[in-house]
Amino acid sequence: MIAEPREKILVGNEIFTPLLSEDRIQSRVEELGKQLTKDYQGTIPVFIGVLNGSFLFMSDLIKCVDLDCEIDFFKLSSYGDEKLSSGKVRLVKELNCDVNGRDIIIVEDIVDSGLSVKYIEEMFAENNPKSMKVVSLLVKPKSLKFNVKIDYIGFDIPSKFVIGYGLDYAQKYRNLRSVYVLSEESE
Ligand code: IMP
Ligand code: MG
Repeated sequence: MIAEPREKILVGNEIFTPLLSEDRIQSRVEELGKQLTKDYQGTIPVFIGVLNGSFLFMSDLIKCVDLDCEIDFFKLSSYGDEKLSSGKVRLVKELNCDVNGRDIIIVEDIVDSGLSVKYIEEMFAENNPKSMKVVSLLVKPKSLKFNVKIDYIGFDIPSKFVIGYGLDYAQKYRNLRSVYVLSEESE
């Protein structure tokens, strides 16, 4: 039996409380899958997941997409092991597939400043995909510093640090089924 949702998660002095339940996430993911199914009729899109954060979202999302599709992953590093971005993005694992002439859908866990998405868009534009769209489970609209368009958004959330459903804090808590937010009560 999985003991979730938890009332709170303690990480040292920091308290995380529930923000999005497993049910809310799953029904929104289903809606996004239906929308993508409609929008990509007649094509064979490539879903490209940004590791590590998007792995759960990616697997749930493509199960809700009723189309022939392909998947691939690549990995960026920006956060190090803390709650603040380093402000620099590095490609640490490359994509295998050729995106030239393909309809690609970038799958992100969360868009904060938008730096990663901007880096990704520039990186893929060089390889001439037929089309490129971005789907992100979470967006922090008030944190955006770069001019990026997120085509499909799961949830807009406040500019606070969150964990769970793929998202980590120092590499842990990715396996939680709900999303939890750092509470104001934390020291
Ligand atoms: P951006 O480049 O500033 O938009 O940050 C995007 C990346 O930072 C995401 O793909 C996440 O990996 C990470 N990130 C941003 N906000 C959070 C958060 O609240 N919790 C965990 N990871 C986050
Ligand atoms: Mg990420």
